[in-house]
Amino acid sequence: MSDVRTVVITGASRGLGLASAAELYRRGWRVVGAMRSVDHGLDRIRELTGVRRDDPRLLGVHLDLVDPESISAAATSILEMVGAPDALVHNAAVASAGFVEETPSSEWTRLFATNLFGPAALTNAILPAMRAAGHGRIVVVSSTVAVRGMPLASIYSATKAGAERWAESLAGEVAPFGLGVTILMAGTYDTEITGDETPVFQHVDGPYGLMHLKMERRGRIAVKMANPPVRFARSLARTLERDRVPIAHRGAGIDARIFRTVGRFTPTAVIHQLVRVGLAQPRFGALRDHR
Ligand SMILES: NC(=O)c1ccc[n+]([C@@H]2O[C@H](COP(=O)([O-])OP(=O)(O)OC[C@H]3O[C@@H](n4cnc5c(N)ncnc54)[C@H](OP(=O)(O)O)[C@@H]3O)[C@@H](O)[C@H]2O)c1
Repeated sequence: MSDVRTVVITGASRGLGLASAAELYRRGWRVVGAMRSVDHGLDRIRELTGVRRDDPRLLGVHLDLVDPESISAAATSILEMVGAPDALVHNAAVASAGFVEETPSSEWTRLFATNLFGPAALTNAILPAMRAAGHGRIVVVSSTVAVRGMPLASIYSATKAGAERWAESLAGEVAPFGLGVTILMAGTYDTEITGDETPVFQHVDGPYGLMHLKMERRGRIAVKMANPPVRFARSLARTLERDRVPIAHRGAGIDARIFRTVGRFTPTAVIHQLVRVGLAQPRFGALRDHR
């Protein structure tokens, strides 16, 4: 077992985490799925891979990222079960959609706790063992909305951009100990985060009502072009198997790679117009009379 590399992946119960857990298992990794519903999640990974129940290369640990005690207990279990992992993948996340003014403040707490504070706390709990091991990689799954704040996704954008900056800072601190960080930006994939799992906050009779319908319709078209999760899983596996540099920014999917480049090098005013037209939003000042 000592030659086998171990990956801990959060949110392995469904979506990109589930596909990644299965892909990494197939490639010979020992996989620790950290998730809220361990039995259910492990069953789903077994369904995809045909793994036996007693296979020591597939393990599960309970993790709820909004609960500090759960994070601490999960870290303790992980270290007891497998010691310092070779890779820790922060995949689990939640999103919400809605205009800034109309989204309840509880969403700020929920999204930041799940997407940034929880992963940071889990990392801190596992880092001492990884530093002692002198090697390992931390992967943060990001999104195109981290490059530029997107209308209707303000909080999610903020958490993903925050997670990227946190990960970059961390990379600068842990590199001397032989640890690397990869920020893996996902394009659009067919999972529940792009569907009903994500709450939408909208007041059709409110000041933004005129924009709601069109923006939603455009959003649905984008989701129809979503890729299957297994493609993301292959990108993650390649990243884990190849990245040796202290910090790497990667795109999983052609749309992520294009957006990353365009987002970084295109002037803000141009991006604003592209997003406005893409989401069928009215021009600057067009709704002055619709207060
Ligand atoms: N799909 C896309 O198009 C897309 C695009 C850009 C970035 N991403 C990123 O890719 C990653 C995976 O998303 P996905 O598309 O696979 O979404 P998903 O299908 O909604 O899966 C989200 C995962 O996060 C877990 N999770 C949610 N809250 C949690 C909590 N409090 N504690 C522990 N786990 C929790 C869920 O577990 P439960 O089953 O227990 O709810 C689930 O396993 C996320 O970081 C997301 O931001 C996705």
